[in-house]
Amino acid sequence: MAGTVLQHVITPPGGFIAGPTDDLIAAVRQVTGMRADWARTAELVADQLRAYLPDPDILTPDQQHGHPDRPAGHVLHAEPDGTFSILGLVWRPGQSTRIHDHITWCVVGVLQGVEHEDLYDEELNLIGTRENHVGEVSGFAPPGDIHRIRNTGTRTAISLHIYGTDITRTGSSARRYYS
Ligand SMILES: [Fe+2]
Repeated sequence: MAGTVLQHVITPPGGFIAGPTDDLIAAVRQVTGMRADWARTAELVADQLRAYLPDPDILTPDQQHGHPDRPAGHVLHAEPDGTFSILGLVWRPGQSTRIHDHITWCVVGVLQGVEHEDLYDEELNLIGTRENHVGEVSGFAPPGDIHRIRNTGTRTAISLHIYGTDITRTGSSARRYYS
């Protein structure tokens, strides 16, 4: 389907000045170290991202431009012990993920634009929609995390994603794609 793309494309970290603040990384490290369950961890990490939410300049101007064919993912930090990683995602207008769920908890904060989220049950019935605007942070943990994100706005959307694993090792945050 035109405008529909594969889930996040990952580019390796390094080579740019921008990145998450040390404060954000330290705060996430502190709360993941509490070893709460996934749902609680997502809440705790979301609290930290709200407190330390960066602006779009966390990405370089070139990264902020996005990719013409698909959402562009940029790994900004991968914790050495593999407990979490931080990505910037850039969506041009009309770009979308496929319907998918996740291998771990996830926290998302919108830095620019609007991200439209469709939520599904296990039979892929649409059970909810949400418009996530700049400054909004949400967290979730499997199961019950089947969703699709689309940029339905007119400008490029940028969001920061924190996952409970080292995404450079797993290659993707997606557990499964649904047709
Ligand atoms: Fe997702």
